[in-house]
Amino acid sequence: MDRSNKPAAIGVAASLPQPTVTIHDNRIEATLPSGESVQVYLYGATVTSWKLANGEEQLFVSSKAHLDGSKAIRGGIPVVFPVFGPPPKNHATSALPQHGFARSTNWEFLGKSTSESLGSDKSKTHNAVKLDFGLSSDMLSEEFRKAWPYEFGLVYSVTLSSEGLETSLQVQNKGTEAFEFHVLLHNYFRVKASDFTPSLGVNSLANAATFFNLQNKSYTDKTDNYALKTESSPAIAITQETDRVYQDVDPAVPVIVATADDDSAPLSITRQGLNTITLWNPWTEKAKGMSDFGDEEYKEMVCVEPGAVGGWQTLEAGEFWEGSQTIRPRL
Ligand code: BG6
Repeated sequence: MDRSNKPAAIGVAASLPQPTVTIHDNRIEATLPSGESVQVYLYGATVTSWKLANGEEQLFVSSKAHLDGSKAIRGGIPVVFPVFGPPPKNHATSALPQHGFARSTNWEFLGKSTSESLGSDKSKTHNAVKLDFGLSSDMLSEEFRKAWPYEFGLVYSVTLSSEGLETSLQVQNKGTEAFEFHVLLHNYFRVKASDFTPSLGVNSLANAATFFNLQNKSYTDKTDNYALKTESSPAIAITQETDRVYQDVDPAVPVIVATADDDSAPLSITRQGLNTITLWNPWTEKAKGMSDFGDEEYKEMVCVEPGAVGGWQTLEAGEFWEGSQTIRPRL
């Protein structure tokens, strides 16, 4: 018998438990044999849940979030493209809404992959799953297409493994002229509300999350009229409304998000092609002003948003660009 066709080899591989992927009308869910799971809505290709093997949810989604496609989902990982923040005047993105259209358009599920290409260690490949989503110009509403009339394609890949979660965006210019864009992955991380420091008053509250590896970085402080500042703290705590865009952050150096309680391991985020980090927490007053966010929910979340938003990325006709993040639940 030809040894290359030895049935035993096939038998061993086939007996390994495989990830399960369930396709619903509006969302895709994947679970690994080891118990980790992820959920992605087609609306915005928004990852709305990422659970570890012990069932612990890593992402925050507001109890008031709209999940019916009527508004960008308040929580999870919305994809920001092609403009971050309010669009500037006199720019190709000027007629778009804040944070662009990718987060408020239905994407297409392109398929799953659990193949060996997901890892060099073949014994582990049954414990990883990649979900691919696509969005192209012809899938936009007429309104968005008019506001940003470029021919483009986006492929967003969400890879879940027992080591962590990776999300990766490829931007393709399918037209005949160059365009400019921003990309940002708007992670809402969950922080246990009980982690909040008992207070003497609102001003003594500190969110339980602390951020490392941003010291000495320049940032624009959106809460202070976009003033340019330098981070002095090695361990940043959130004690007030925070809305900062850190510039020129080396993507290979992980940003660490630690929480106050000892039983939660810190998250680390490394990036490729994304050299800005936005830190956002709306705090008390802004929280009250948002219809899709609970008044007290600012205690339960922090946004740590890897992006390429320090300036415009220019993409020539026929070219593509890629940026990604890898979030690991432990160091
Ligand atoms: C952050 C911005 O990325 O997103 C903030 O830095 C903004 O300025 C926040 O308030 C939420 O934006 P939106 O459009 O989802 O309410």
